[in-house]
Amino acid sequence: MSDVESSILSALSGSPDATIADSFVFASSSNVDHNAIVGSCKSLQADAYVTLSELSTQFYVLSAEAESIVEHGSQEIRVLNALLAAPAAEEGMSLSELEAALGKDVVKIGMGNSLKNKWATKDKASGKLKATIADGVVIQDDVKEQLTKLKSASEGNNTKVLDDPATSMLKRRKLISLVTRKSYAITRGPHYAPQRVKKAADLTKEMLESGNWKNTSFKEYNFTTLGESVGGGYLHPLLKVRAEFRKILMEMGFEEMPTNKWVESSFWNFDSLFQPQSHPARDAHDTFFIKEPASTVSIPEEYYERVKTMHEVGGSGSIGYRCVFQREEAMKNLLRTHTTAISSQMLYKLANQPGGFQPARYFSIDRVFRNESMDATHLCEFHQVEGLVADYNLSLGDLIGTIETFFRKIGITQLRFKPAFNPYTEPSMEVFGYHPDLKKWTEIGNSGMFRPEMLAPMGLPKDVRVIAWGLSLERPTMIKYRIDNIRNLFGHKVDMGMTKNAPICRFETVEDEEEEMKV
Ligand code: PHE
Repeated sequence: MSDVESSILSALSGSPDATIADSFVFASSSNVDHNAIVGSCKSLQADAYVTLSELSTQFYVLSAEAESIVEHGSQEIRVLNALLAAPAAEEGMSLSELEAALGKDVVKIGMGNSLKNKWATKDKASGKLKATIADGVVIQDDVKEQLTKLKSASEGNNTKVLDDPATSMLKRRKLISLVTRKSYAITRGPHYAPQRVKKAADLTKEMLESGNWKNTSFKEYNFTTLGESVGGGYLHPLLKVRAEFRKILMEMGFEEMPTNKWVESSFWNFDSLFQPQSHPARDAHDTFFIKEPASTVSIPEEYYERVKTMHEVGGSGSIGYRCVFQREEAMKNLLRTHTTAISSQMLYKLANQPGGFQPARYFSIDRVFRNESMDATHLCEFHQVEGLVADYNLSLGDLIGTIETFFRKIGITQLRFKPAFNPYTEPSMEVFGYHPDLKKWTEIGNSGMFRPEMLAPMGLPKDVRVIAWGLSLERPTMIKYRIDNIRNLFGHKVDMGMTKNAPICRFETVEDEEEEMKV
């Protein structure tokens, strides 16, 4: 039990109707902070040791200026006294002489009031102030008197001491202000005891065994108390952006590809995409190969043969790579280096589904792996956003249009396309976006039209074209959440609080802005 609690309980111990009339007065007389008294009172009241009734006390407090008047007299009296005491009283005193004697502040207020009270006049010619009161006539310092009366009245009920005109004069001169103080009158509660006994919160096995529970007093249930916040899971910023991208792509009619397999064969990751087996990206320096199981179990054999032929001798107008295609190389397992490995499988399925090819739009947003050296913008695992449209007679214009629509929906309206090279697309274009915050063009994606060397072996009809693009999920997320080091976004150095506090992700589309302008 705290000292404050026991001092309250003992103050009430005298008789059943002992009272602490005002907690504030009690606090100051026992030299304790009033807040501490109130805190203890509330706690004691919760267990019915005391009963509290609210008090509201109004009283005037004197300003610093008023305190100085009580001590030295009002400014106007001080001006008058100075004039009377002046060595050449008939001549009066100039403003600067008065200020030198009494200080600027006193003269500023006192001069006006003494003129108003007709205690002094101002000589027009000399500008000097002269007293009009003969020396020896006693002038009442009304202001000082009223303030002194207020100050000496018992605190807590000084509001009735003065008549209304005096009160409003003092208020007008900002010498007093009304203050309301909240405090409590304290009496014994139904469970008053001079000593507080801590109530038990739980019924224990020991209490049951010993029978002590019978004379233990228990805390009452508080049905209104709120439980501790449970917390919960939070979406990582990457997942927030992913959710938003997914929504946008679905709105655009894209269907999500099953990207849940991270391990792929080199066949799907590279060969099916007409990436030559001698391509440097297929080096262990750039790709994580799997040791166990090192090679894949099966690939569609017929399709494999057609891919092999395309690599070795060509077809569909192409002369191929004209080098030996090795099965062993195609079978090697790896952590997929891009989600285009899945695009390839989806297109193969599309070409070979019962009923034949149907136009389709696919997308995926998932993890890929590259054996790269890590720095502020590169990790060896990251996420790719990939999209493709397969339909008859698509053109590069369709690709540019689709990309523009997608980026407009995430708030990037200025795009530039730059010719590039990918083994599986022709033409290929890098996509640059103007970032209004960063005020510069940044590379935001890669795209192209899949080559006939890739599509023909799958068995897609001759006129079917596939436009496709890919970008990282990390780059737009870092821009959106203003994170400048990728290691603060992803990986073991990430601050969990960042995930918890990251706001929801919303992309203002151009349409949204136009909508807002119409309103
Ligand atoms: N696979 C490419 C990459 O990893 C992206 C891409 C996808 C390019 C589809 C063209 C077409 O960068």
